[in-house]
Amino acid sequence: AGTAAAGLVALPLSACEAQNSLFSADGAGANPLAIPELNQGIVEQGERVFRLSISAGQKEFVPGVVSPTIGINAPYLGPTLEMRRGERVRLHVDNGLDDGATVHWHGFELPAAADGGPHQLIRPGARWSPSFEVRQRASLYWYHSHLHRGTGPQVYAGLAAPIYVRDDEEDALDLPSEYGVDDIPLIVQDRVLDNSGKLLYPQNMHAQMMGVRGDRLYVNGTQNAVFDARTGLLRLRILNGSNARFYDFSLSGGQTMQIIASDGGLLERPRAVRSLRLAPGERAQILVDLSEGRPLSLVATSPDNSMGMMGGDGGGMMGRRRDDTEMDEPFRVLDIRPSDSSPQRKLPSQLAPLPALDPSLAVRTRRFVLDMGMMGGGMSINGASMDMNVISERVPVGQWEIWEIANASMMAHPFHIHNAQFRVIDRNGRTPPPLETGYKDTVIVDPREQVRLLLRFEEHTDPDLPYMYHCHILEHEDAGMMGQFVVVDS
Ligand code: C2O
Ligand code: CU
Ligand code: CU
Repeated sequence: AGTAAAGLVALPLSACEAQNSLFSADGAGANPLAIPELNQGIVEQGERVFRLSISAGQKEFVPGVVSPTIGINAPYLGPTLEMRRGERVRLHVDNGLDDGATVHWHGFELPAAADGGPHQLIRPGARWSPSFEVRQRASLYWYHSHLHRGTGPQVYAGLAAPIYVRDDEEDALDLPSEYGVDDIPLIVQDRVLDNSGKLLYPQNMHAQMMGVRGDRLYVNGTQNAVFDARTGLLRLRILNGSNARFYDFSLSGGQTMQIIASDGGLLERPRAVRSLRLAPGERAQILVDLSEGRPLSLVATSPDNSMGMMGGDGGGMMGRRRDDTEMDEPFRVLDIRPSDSSPQRKLPSQLAPLPALDPSLAVRTRRFVLDMGMMGGGMSINGASMDMNVISERVPVGQWEIWEIANASMMAHPFHIHNAQFRVIDRNGRTPPPLETGYKDTVIVDPREQVRLLLRFEEHTDPDLPYMYHCHILEHEDAGMMGQFVVVDS
């Protein structure tokens, strides 16, 4: 197997079969989970002001081997920014890199000039200081590089971090919310190291097509992470911050977890699930019951999301490559060790009322067809590859629309829309899973699937400055599976 792939693929590591694969359930070692520093900014003249400085850093992905990285106020990744709904924020972003960079506030509804997409390039040595009102519901959002054709490598090097938005609605519920104690961000990312243990960003055809998938798993930059819990109920805010890998999360021992929030905040009520699928860009918040005092693990599988396109028994297009596409065996994401005297805590039965999902509100339907072309040579939406000078959609402000996302390729894609929180109407006519009963900004579209979204843009901004919609597999985005829209007067 893998003969066809051998010549094309430069990945030095072979994971699932590999002895030392840290995806394996019995990988050695345990490290305390790193918790990103909490940064609440400083309130100055009615604005909450954050100072962020992007710079080159270093990290030892394996002890003793230093890799160059990118970080925000840190050598790798960055602080969790905490803000409140309704307040104004200003973010001073200094680019200390030798390259251009951008910082996008993923999940936020804001003026296009503050969005941080490819048009808001920050040149080396320059400062960018966007300001906006936080209109988001309380949830986990994130910020990351959105450099034109360079998002994949910059996020991979570390230019990504969480944002917590809090609000009164959520504060009124008795949910675990002590940062780093019972309310924990988990940035889940996979990485490839070369033979010497240095961070490697593979740029072969396989990586371009499937997206870069590593065989080592890090949570907040920690490998084999362990968390010592001091409470009986733990709130995990999971962000799939990987470039391309999808995960199916579950708890060891088949214990159920309660989903309480999706990308855009609280669901109507907790939903008990045994597994939870997240594609790059997606988030979910779960509550884990530790009242029995037994250690448990958050585990995941990462099944092939390409319908065997790159492998499978038929050999696939490029030969079988079990190593970095399929992870059918559950591997550990995080070990949780409860202390015995954890106080019990009740789970609320209702969370947040959401407006009824009413597709008949929509005054028009727009269709978006995702495709990859032959051998990934035609990453496109509606037949067009990203062009900074082309605005494909002009969407009237204030009108409900249905966006119909269809997948013409053989691989699943997470479709993300800027400046929006939408609702998922259906998938090929069927009711969406529990996580998709709330607000979302990124949604998986499986091969041969059509997903219908209901959305509305509440404010129009600069008619010449577009927002993006794109696949959140970063190598697909960089290769052109992205388009631009503006919100115009109706
Ligand atoms: Cu998280 Cu346009 O990106
Ligand atoms: Cu975004
Ligand atoms: Cu894609």
